[in-house]
Amino acid sequence: MRRTMVAGNWKMHGTRSSIAELINSLRCLALPSSVDIAVFPPCLYIKQVVDGLKGNLIQVGAQNSAVEPTQGALTGEISPSQLADAGCSYVIVGHSERRRMMGEHDGIVNRKFAAAQACGLIPVLCIGEALEQRESGNTLKVVSYQLGSLIKELGMSVFANAVIAYEPIWGIGTGLTATPQQAQDVHAAIRTQLSEETSEIAQGIRLLYGGSVKAANAAELFSMPDIDGGLIGGASLNANEFGEICRAAGN
Ligand code: PGA
Repeated sequence: MRRTMVAGNWKMHGTRSSIAELINSLRCLALPSSVDIAVFPPCLYIKQVVDGLKGNLIQVGAQNSAVEPTQGALTGEISPSQLADAGCSYVIVGHSERRRMMGEHDGIVNRKFAAAQACGLIPVLCIGEALEQRESGNTLKVVSYQLGSLIKELGMSVFANAVIAYEPIWGIGTGLTATPQQAQDVHAAIRTQLSEETSEIAQGIRLLYGGSVKAANAAELFSMPDIDGGLIGGASLNANEFGEICRAAGN
């Protein structure tokens, strides 16, 4: 039985004071112990969140990390070893906003994934298609290519300790959510692709859905057999909404 997971990606939002408020509200939530819950603040506030959530079951992750595992001469970057040192357990790799706006291609994503794992962080690998790719019937091809690139470079065993998030780009921050069936079809294809390599790892890995998930649609999405939780952007900035999504994942 896979444990469900809810991950809150705060993106480039927050100030010291708004994050202090969010931490306080998160601490007041009644959260299901059957769900792995993590929040991903902007790097600058990771320590504040780690300290603020001490003793709480919510874990902390980073939104990005360097291609090199250890500290060194790489101006402006933060190594996954430093993130682990700061108290992170997870790191998002390959988010479509970084793929598109920062030019992160599969080769970079794969290096970041490997570096994160080398430092004991659990990578949350994001994959997903653009609207024109869906409309031209290429969704499964795109997703399978992104996943295949990582399998080819790093091998299948890396998925024993990783999470995959399927995030259709057209659903991110747009209010357009994939229907539960659309999301399930892609998740099933991802699991089948992994299963053709190693069935045990394919059955164990958590596949999260991301893209305009909110309290109102979470339960329906999470009821699908291959959807093991969600990667939540906008709705994770509201503690009560986030709490409701976590409870939906626990049911
Ligand atoms: P959204 O973002 O929930 O605001 O659509 C999801 C994500 O980008 O991870």
